[in-house]
Amino acid sequence: MTQRVAILLSGGGSNMVSLVDSMTGDHPARPCLVLSNNAGAGGLEKARARGVPTAVVDHRPYGEDRSAFEAALNAVLADHAPDILCLAGFMRVLTGGFVQEWQGRMLNIHPSLLPKYRGLHTHARALAAGDAEAGCTVHEVTPELDEGPMLGQARVPALPGDTPDSLAARVLAEEHVLYPAVLRRFAMNDRTPILLP
Ligand code: GAR
Repeated sequence: MTQRVAILLSGGGSNMVSLVDSMTGDHPARPCLVLSNNAGAGGLEKARARGVPTAVVDHRPYGEDRSAFEAALNAVLADHAPDILCLAGFMRVLTGGFVQEWQGRMLNIHPSLLPKYRGLHTHARALAAGDAEAGCTVHEVTPELDEGPMLGQARVPALPGDTPDSLAARVLAEEHVLYPAVLRRFAMNDRTPILLP
């Protein structure tokens, strides 16, 4: 049966585009919703242009009450009945309650070679450490931030003269290859990690 995929984002949505564009033909999944906490997220317009339903749940009115924000997310999600959630640049930390509800069905992409550099500013931290390579990781989401079983990793070299921006661009190009490859496999119930290159 075709799997229904909801994609959560906060920003430009380039990973969302790569996921949506991959779900055609004999792909076992189809996008059912793009959901954002940010009404100004560029990804929303890109989703609409692709004919994917969109919704916004602004986190700000909920203040510190993450559970109420997540209840609102879940209410919207329930209307679209996703089987799989893909976090794609969704920049809100989720509570253990929400994560447990979706555990085993929720993926995230993170711009580092986890377990290195959980959290923010991953590229600057990799360069500051003098790392010879960087990359990205797709993993199942578990209650600890940027943890959970690894489903795929792509590596790129860190080059002399790299800035955080130039390294981020090189990693992002790999994110666009890795995330669709992992989603396709995951939607077929195969959790064997994909290691690129
Ligand atoms: C991507 O680089 C993604 O890995 C990162 O945000 C960017 C979103 O770009 N995610 C995180 O940092 C999550 N901790 P996009 O909106 O163009 O897909």
